Amino acid sequence: MTPQEFENEIRKLKKELNAVILAHYYQESPIQDLADFVGDSLELSRRAAATTADVIVFCGVHFMAETAKILNPHKPVLLPDLLAGCSLSDGCPPAAFRKFREAHPDHVAITYINCSAEVKALSDIICTSSNAEKIVSQIPLDQLILFSPDKNLGAYINKKTGRNMLLWNASCIVHETFSERKLIGLQLEHPDAELIAHPECEDHILAKSAFIGSTSMLLKYVQESSRKKFIVGTEYGIVHQMEKHTTGKTFLPLPPEANCSCNECPHMKRNTLEKLFLCMKNMHPQIEMNSDLLNKARKPIDKMLAMS
Ligand code: 13P
Ligand code: SF4
Repeated sequence: MTPQEFENEIRKLKKELNAVILAHYYQESPIQDLADFVGDSLELSRRAAATTADVIVFCGVHFMAETAKILNPHKPVLLPDLLAGCSLSDGCPPAAFRKFREAHPDHVAITYINCSAEVKALSDIICTSSNAEKIVSQIPLDQLILFSPDKNLGAYINKKTGRNMLLWNASCIVHETFSERKLIGLQLEHPDAELIAHPECEDHILAKSAFIGSTSMLLKYVQESSRKKFIVGTEYGIVHQMEKHTTGKTFLPLPPEANCSCNECPHMKRNTLEKLFLCMKNMHPQIEMNSDLLNKARKPIDKMLAMS
């Protein structure tokens, strides 16, 4: 089948199933174009919580589809490739996280949504990159906090809020790859370009950024800014929407140190048009969870939705 035929079949199946297709900005462009909604982690969670569709097709990574299932326990949630993981989630195994919590019983656990349902179930409040600062700011100043699993986002929020949260030591393989050396070269070549970055980047990149925010915040920023050229310090999939929603603006990818495409998330890119078509045709693979875990993981997500 050609890409156009896949797209036609997916649109047909969407109607037949009364399905909604939710996609993250890091999905390949044809998937973003087919989706009913493209957004960041918080917006996708909100959409999943509010949908009236019978079937949720989630084009993103596993923890995102799992969150949609937690918010819709009675609906099928399809993920084109169940192996679409996340290095942050992998970097925080539930047994080790439980020990971390037990070692700090007087701390509140605020956990980035990029984690497994098991880790969510062991947490007090979930956050995303777009509401982390808001949520941390609502915690009384004398309350100690554990922030997991992203040490870069945690350090950024510590700086912004003046808190001293204890940080779990994990990071994103994509956002850690950006090269400061190549950034300087790019800035010399394009002195009119502004660096914008996701808070999962390391501090030496964030320190040089004119704007830091979640994927949706970066998109909004380039739409509203009078600047014409940007160096984009996040996964390059977001540029599809930046180009769609602006005219006459240039977006340069912040390069990785090696000559590779490490600024593409290999997990996000596991989903393809073909796999999207097959999962809708076969109603498989689906996210399956036991109800006990689902109920426990839901509490800190509900808290996040109420606080943001
Ligand atoms: P956003 O919530 O900003 O889209 O981030 C999700 C993510 O996985 C970034 O790597
Ligand atoms: Fe996880 Fe990084 Fe991929 Fe985002 S870009 S899904 S944090 S591995």
